Amino acid sequence: MKNDILKVLISKEELEAKVKELGQMITRDYKDKDLMIVGILKGCVIFLSDLIREIDLPLTMDFMVVSSYGSSTKSSGVVRIIKDLEKDIAGKDVLIVEDIVDTGLTLNYLVDYLKSRNANSVKICTLLEKPDRRKVEVDLEYVGFHIPDEFVVGYGLDYAEVYRNLPFVCILKPEVYS
Ligand code: PRP
Ligand code: MN
Ligand code: MG
Repeated sequence: MKNDILKVLISKEELEAKVKELGQMITRDYKDKDLMIVGILKGCVIFLSDLIREIDLPLTMDFMVVSSYGSSTKSSGVVRIIKDLEKDIAGKDVLIVEDIVDTGLTLNYLVDYLKSRNANSVKICTLLEKPDRRKVEVDLEYVGFHIPDEFVVGYGLDYAEVYRNLPFVCILKPEVYS
């Protein structure tokens, strides 16, 4: 698997430092709130599990499965809810945790959806974002890294469901995609 890597974009150490920093900001901002983390599977898993251990507050969490990419490297723009929340979120301060915001279509849809279920607040924490690819405006409260428009994998991000377990964010060799 490591043979497929062209270049590491964000190292393990950089990820660790950033996740700590985000955790501290969230701890400060949600001190007197009813924090509920909503992870968007599957990309969020690694980031989310590291992040929540850096938040020094009581919190609850739930997960949604949403798909917009399928096995292609491009967003289809079609958002599909495959697994919904299990509990009521009325009155909760929801923090959506994502691995990456690309076109913004997934989150644009999800924020509206969660607000319509009467959450007290709905904010977003994403590890990565690609500003060049945005198709719809989304407010991103917490962003780890702004990255160029290149297809990245690792630390939860996949290509055709593989490479999520790489401990860093990287770019694959072009021949891997063909
Ligand atoms: C990816 C990523 C985000 C979404 C971002 O998920 O994890 O959820 O696409 O794209 P957008 O901003 O263009 O909407 P994907 O559909 O690949 O599912 P996965 O998390 O299971 O890999
Ligand atoms: Mn995802
Ligand atoms: Mg994916």
